Amino acid sequence: MADPYDLIIIGGGPGGYNCAIRAGQLGLKVACVEKGKTLGGTCLNVGCIPSKALLHASELYEGVSSHYGAFGIKTSGVSLDLDQMMKAKAETVDGLTKGIAFLFKKNKVDHISGTGRIAGAGSVEVTDAKGKKSTLATKNIVIATGSEVAPLPGVEIDEKRIVSSTGALSLPKVPKSMVVIGAGVIGLELGSVWRRLGTQVSIVEYLPRIMPGADGEVAKQAQRAFKRQGFDFHLGMKVTGIEKLKTKLKLTMEPAKGGDAQTLEAETVLVCIGRRPYTENLGLAEAGVKTDPRGFIETNHWKTAASGIWAIGDCTTGLMLAHKAEEEGVACAEAIAGKAAHVNYGVIPGVVYTSPEIAWVGRTEEELKEAGIAYKKGAFPFTANARARANQDMQGFVKVLADASTDEILGVHMMGANVSEMIGEAALAMEFSAASEDIARTCHAHPTLSEALRQAAMGVEGWTMQM
Ligand code: FAD
Ligand code: NAI
Repeated sequence: MADPYDLIIIGGGPGGYNCAIRAGQLGLKVACVEKGKTLGGTCLNVGCIPSKALLHASELYEGVSSHYGAFGIKTSGVSLDLDQMMKAKAETVDGLTKGIAFLFKKNKVDHISGTGRIAGAGSVEVTDAKGKKSTLATKNIVIATGSEVAPLPGVEIDEKRIVSSTGALSLPKVPKSMVVIGAGVIGLELGSVWRRLGTQVSIVEYLPRIMPGADGEVAKQAQRAFKRQGFDFHLGMKVTGIEKLKTKLKLTMEPAKGGDAQTLEAETVLVCIGRRPYTENLGLAEAGVKTDPRGFIETNHWKTAASGIWAIGDCTTGLMLAHKAEEEGVACAEAIAGKAAHVNYGVIPGVVYTSPEIAWVGRTEEELKEAGIAYKKGAFPFTANARARANQDMQGFVKVLADASTDEILGVHMMGANVSEMIGEAALAMEFSAASEDIARTCHAHPTLSEALRQAAMGVEGWTMQM
């Protein structure tokens, strides 16, 4: 009998593949079981990457159709080739998933195609596409099976007229109208894609605000910007049903606090009210792995309640983000290899890739107030930033929150062009427990958008240089 693996990872998404590659780098004998046709999980196949490909392409289309005139660039005869846009997206996904397969080979990770199940301590049963079963022995099992779309009770997702994010990433034509249920990250990103391509988008949200989790001031300003772009928001509303008529969908909703029912009609409905852990038929209960009431696997430093079984990424409690899964994958491999392993959960950035982009790291003003932490605040608008003015893209601002007595940065919140790239500087500063003064006294190149972060940090001590 072959030597057992040091670890077998079930699931080849950002959590699983990063765990596998790091384990391979550390010289562990490792296999990754993936049931999908390609590696990369939700993120590469139907999540981060295809959505960002469509966000970029649709932003270019809207820019060339409506905004370039302001720069003295005349365009005419602009038209949309949706098939080519989808093809380019598919090529990006294909290249990246193949890249993971290459990295597996390079780092001596065995890629096992099939559906994994925990068959007992140190044992993983794999069922391949033809139904053939095999059992593999291992010292450690890492569960990295990710998440799936949370359903809306009473609404059947057919991925044609009523779609989840997966269907919304591959619509064959631009719908005339779309109702998005949920003003979270997916609703705003994919709603933006289709709005830019010509769809009239309405968003129905249960809460009285958009983007729960983001700083309230940012969410308010972002909502104003999205409204100007043409989004029609229905906040504080709950959907009670969707009737499928011959050519359209009739959605019924009522105020969450109670009140009269209202209706909305659309060609397409996108349901995006969150995701839930995907742990179907894994044999968790039999193996002694504990989950919380919502089904998320409970862990302590990536260890589950069952000895030798670990869990990472979306199927565990916490943020459902690719880079959080990646951090946990690396840390888990290092812990299994006997190294000191750490994830700083207080410094995981969040980004919404709309236009303007929204990005943050650390705590919001609401969270600091609730925790009773005294803080100072500095803010800087992009209207006062030279590069933003040169680019004629002046929406948004940067806000730095720092501890009132120590000046340590507690949170940074941004809204504007390219802030997805700017948030890394704030995350790095927080990782080193920097004070706002550390950013304020760091020389930033001129003219750059990142000067807005410096100016906001200067604002904490009241020396922002703003007209
Ligand atoms: P997953 O990526 O879901 O991977 C789990 C893998 O396990 C899957 O490949 C699945 O097939 C496999 N699997 C499950 N069960 C078994 C089994 N029994 N046997 C074998 N294999 C199994 N996050 C960001 O940080 N940035 C973004 O821009 C972003 N955009 C997103 C856009 C959309 C539309 C969506 C839906 C999500 C987005 N996310 C984004 C979230 C991100 O995709 C997830 O947080 C991330 O993929 C989680 O990684 P994971 O490894 O935990 O799980
Ligand atoms: P989400 O949690 O971001 O937003 C869901 C929204 O739906 C919330 O505003 C919630 O209040 C609302 N909602 C819940 N039930 C509702 C109901 N019955 N009726 C109306 N509204 C309701 O979840 P989303 O957008 O589905 O995304 C899922 C996950 O994918 C998120 O955890 C997110 O982290 C991840 N993701 C991350 C991206 C990024 O980092 N850029 C992009 C896309 C997804």
